[in-house]
Amino acid sequence: MPNKKKTSTTKKTTKSKTTTEVDEAKSHLPGNTHMEEISRNVHFINHRFHSTTENFWVLLTSDRHHDNPHCNQELEKKHLDEAKERNAVIIDYGDLFCAMQGKFDRRASKDDIRPEHQSGNYLDKLVSTATDFYAPYADNFAVMGPGNHETAMLKHHETNLTERLVERLNMSTGSQIKTGGYSGWVKFKFWYGKDSPGVERKCEGSVNLWYHHGYGGDAPVTKGTIQTGRQAVYVPDAHIVCTGHTHNEWIFPITRIRIKDSGLIYHDEQLHLKTPGYKEEYEDGYGGWHIERGGPPKPNGAMWLRFWWSKSTNNAIRGIQYEVTRAK
Ligand SMILES: [Fe+2]
Ligand SMILES: [Fe+2]
Repeated sequence: MPNKKKTSTTKKTTKSKTTTEVDEAKSHLPGNTHMEEISRNVHFINHRFHSTTENFWVLLTSDRHHDNPHCNQELEKKHLDEAKERNAVIIDYGDLFCAMQGKFDRRASKDDIRPEHQSGNYLDKLVSTATDFYAPYADNFAVMGPGNHETAMLKHHETNLTERLVERLNMSTGSQIKTGGYSGWVKFKFWYGKDSPGVERKCEGSVNLWYHHGYGGDAPVTKGTIQTGRQAVYVPDAHIVCTGHTHNEWIFPITRIRIKDSGLIYHDEQLHLKTPGYKEEYEDGYGGWHIERGGPPKPNGAMWLRFWWSKSTNNAIRGIQYEVTRAK
């Protein structure tokens, strides 16, 4: 069993919320969805299903590199519009900014900067132009965490671009997006059916998602799938593990054998997802940093997580269910 000892950054929760309290909680998210901040990198997303035909969608994204001229902003917009249509919740775990074109950066190149960022207040412009782009979708964003491109800016230039963007989006739209950590948890908690005012109904199903922006090199042959074996050992409570950073894409299930207190043996699964992001830097392979270092072409996109409620008489597929598909 995992050690249940709390870390110093985790606040103690007083009691689980009743469905009435959940519905009344203030939240900017669409549909029957509400969010609670438990600590700086633990967020609960609560959703109530009213029928078995209803879907609850989550868009999992990383590595937008939004300000990079090679960012496929058209694809970003397509997925954001789909998220709006589906009342989806968006969780983004870093490298939303590229932020490599300041005059302070030796890697800066005059060919690699968008015209809207060619000004003396480069970092301010990154935040204001990103706010303009994401503001129509602010109600769909739940959590935004930093990647190494944002933490590098904090380290060298003492500004947290993730916090600045969240702050500005919240100020300009009234949304209540939360910043997350470089790694953190989103616990999805579910209820089914009508609420009975005054009657306490505890959460009827939950799924734990652990995100980490990612680390390490490109791993051109294994694509980083070896990390799933390590993470499966030290993140035992996650049903879903999401990472980005290498701009690879895969869905990698790890099936485990378990036993109940009654002695019943069963299998469960930890699902590892690598989201590719939106930067297209190979193109025709003519040249550039990525080509010169032998970088391969990379996929673009994100992942859709769809939840639904099943009333099947088969216990194995009863209650909260989910599947993952590629956002293309
Ligand atoms: Fe990245
Ligand atoms: Fe990264």
